[in-house]
Amino acid sequence: MGNFQELITNRRSIRRYTTEEIPADSVKIILQAALMAPTSKNSRPWQFVLVEDSAKLEALAKCKEGGATPIAHCSLAIVVAVDVEASDPWIEDAAIAATYIQLQAQDLGLGSCWIQVRGRYTESDLESETYVQNLLGMPDTILPVCIITLGHPDEKRNPQNLEKLMWEKVHIGEWQER
Ligand SMILES: Cc1cc2nc3c(=O)[nH]c(=O)nc-3n(C[C@H](O)[C@H](O)[C@H](O)COP(=O)(O)O)c2cc1C
Repeated sequence: MGNFQELITNRRSIRRYTTEEIPADSVKIILQAALMAPTSKNSRPWQFVLVEDSAKLEALAKCKEGGATPIAHCSLAIVVAVDVEASDPWIEDAAIAATYIQLQAQDLGLGSCWIQVRGRYTESDLESETYVQNLLGMPDTILPVCIITLGHPDEKRNPQNLEKLMWEKVHIGEWQER
């Protein structure tokens, strides 16, 4: 087993990828991780839509006004969506699965970035959720929360700086006004 602390220290959002494909066995391991994510009442309300086709990735990158360009050039985009009727804490369920995907990708030496979909809008003011549903033929009860872009890193990011952690966010025993 690798070192988890090292994994999370080194994980940074990677937005540039090489054209190298992600091996099928790595994709399987990433999906296994997503499917093992904990959910409220074990409801497992998520759905994962994988997109690799470059024309579709380009279209997906237009799902919101800014901050979605990594989608256009990634090797694989995983749309993390949830059945909003299957779990009331569906946002948390989806967010944990998305995080598992990112951490598993990191462990496989891949880069990833979370692209927010829920609550965002396209350039023409359409809800990003609706845009993604329409593009991928998804039913309207299945809400896309985010898209995780994946690929072999084509940029170098510094690891987290342990010296710069915001310890003032931590309150011991009771709230400390700072
Ligand atoms: C809920 C959430 C939404 C995010 N949305 C986007 C996004 O739409 N586009 C993007 O490029 N990065 C997005 N990110 C990545 C953050 O910008 C990034 O995690 C943050 O700047 C910290 O950098 P790091 O991941 O390299 O540590 C998002 C991250 C989270 C957790």
